[in-house]
Amino acid sequence: MLSDKDRIFTNLYGHHDWRLKGARARGDWDGTKAILAMGHDWIVDQVKASGLRGRGGAGFPTGLKWSFMPKAVGERPHYLVVNADEGEPGTCKDRDMMRNDPHKLIEGCLIAGFAMRAHVAYIYVRGEFYREAERLDAAIAEAEEAGLLGDDACGSGWPFRVYVHKGAGAYICGEETALIQSLEGKKGQPRLKPPFPAGVGLYGCPTTVNNVESIAVVPTVLRRGASWFSGIGRENNTGTKVFCISGHVNKPCNVEEAMSIPLRTLIEKHAGGVRGGWDNLLAVIPGGASVPLLPKDICDDVLMDFDALKEAKSGLGTAAVMVMDKSADVVASIARLSQFYMHESCGQCTPCREGAGWMSRVMDRMVTGDANPEEIDILEQVTRQVEGHTICALGDAAAWPIQGLIRHFRPELERRIAARRGQSGKGAAAAAE
Ligand SMILES: Cc1cc2nc3c(=O)[nH]c(=O)nc-3n(C[C@H](O)[C@H](O)[C@H](O)COP(=O)(O)O)c2cc1C
Ligand code: SF4
Repeated sequence: MLSDKDRIFTNLYGHHDWRLKGARARGDWDGTKAILAMGHDWIVDQVKASGLRGRGGAGFPTGLKWSFMPKAVGERPHYLVVNADEGEPGTCKDRDMMRNDPHKLIEGCLIAGFAMRAHVAYIYVRGEFYREAERLDAAIAEAEEAGLLGDDACGSGWPFRVYVHKGAGAYICGEETALIQSLEGKKGQPRLKPPFPAGVGLYGCPTTVNNVESIAVVPTVLRRGASWFSGIGRENNTGTKVFCISGHVNKPCNVEEAMSIPLRTLIEKHAGGVRGGWDNLLAVIPGGASVPLLPKDICDDVLMDFDALKEAKSGLGTAAVMVMDKSADVVASIARLSQFYMHESCGQCTPCREGAGWMSRVMDRMVTGDANPEEIDILEQVTRQVEGHTICALGDAAAWPIQGLIRHFRPELERRIAARRGQSGKGAAAAAE
């Protein structure tokens, strides 16, 4: 488990002053000028060495992503864009970071922006986070007033400004290319890749989009050293991570922990355990709504990191841990997520637009058992036709929760269909064999 001295987000719960004075007392903005003096490439190399992987869902190595930005600035300026859309159901970590530790993110913007030779960062905040956007604006004004941002940021000679932009609450605007479109004032629809944003991004210029947490940890990683960060967690899964634990636990919470902590330890030490005890656990969605759920027997000893959860045929995603005890209707829960993806599909790709609606309608029938047993296989096949065949990963996100349900709870689907047809569950299971 993570010791207190290794925590990055020391004001995650808002117990202390979020303003510049309080942030400085907690170590933010300490020696920023010296960090910048080490140069663009040194910063990128340190972030690579730390093993930091993107905290927005896909887990792409952050330093490597920064290294894709052109080394020289030509006619097109470079941009850093911070993804603060935080639309993934169950996820509420970026909100707390912006609300209670805004200076960590702003200092991170300067260091990351400088590393990729940008003079401007945009923070794209979901519109519902109105108060958080207000705080960011206030913190940016303080930083400018103190000379930490502006024409000579931190006395480094590097001009740097940060702007906050409020979105309008569409989940798809969290996808990085849709976010760029939205920031440009267009309809928020994902763009085909390639070209990737590092080549052609915001206003057609080299751009890197990173999650709030990915950027906010960078100043501390550089101050404490890449090896400190890479020493936490497991190889290829390093550092600290803010987990959002919700659902049927005694004390839902956000908590910063060591990457690779066992799921059971995470829930029992920080969220007061599963309601009714561990044996009352039915399933956990370990990484936000988009990843397949895991039944109790896998939850017993799975580790919370990118590779362990991939091996368990799920994913770390945004590390939003949604817990279902035995009172949960697991089929209805996944059907509700299917409705969400149907509603949020931007409609550009046929497999996603048509498939998400089709899957949602079939899932609604699975809840009541108004289906044929063969439709379980058809549903599974349709998820495979959507997955990997769309412009953006929303198609995958619509498919994966259903795949997880069929993989682990097929007998429950069969039981409902049999019950609806007036047979006993036992009979249906035997028929299925
Ligand atoms: C439908 C969809 C929604 C997404 N929403 C978010 C989001 O709200 N916040 C976020 O950081 N990343 C989101 N992502 C991932 C981004 O596309 C992108 O990978 C991420 O911002 C990169 O940051 P990172 O490398 O720091 O993780 C979403 C992806 C998809 C497909
Ligand atoms: S996968 Fe869905 S959300 Fe993504 S671009 Fe295609 S239609 Fe839009």
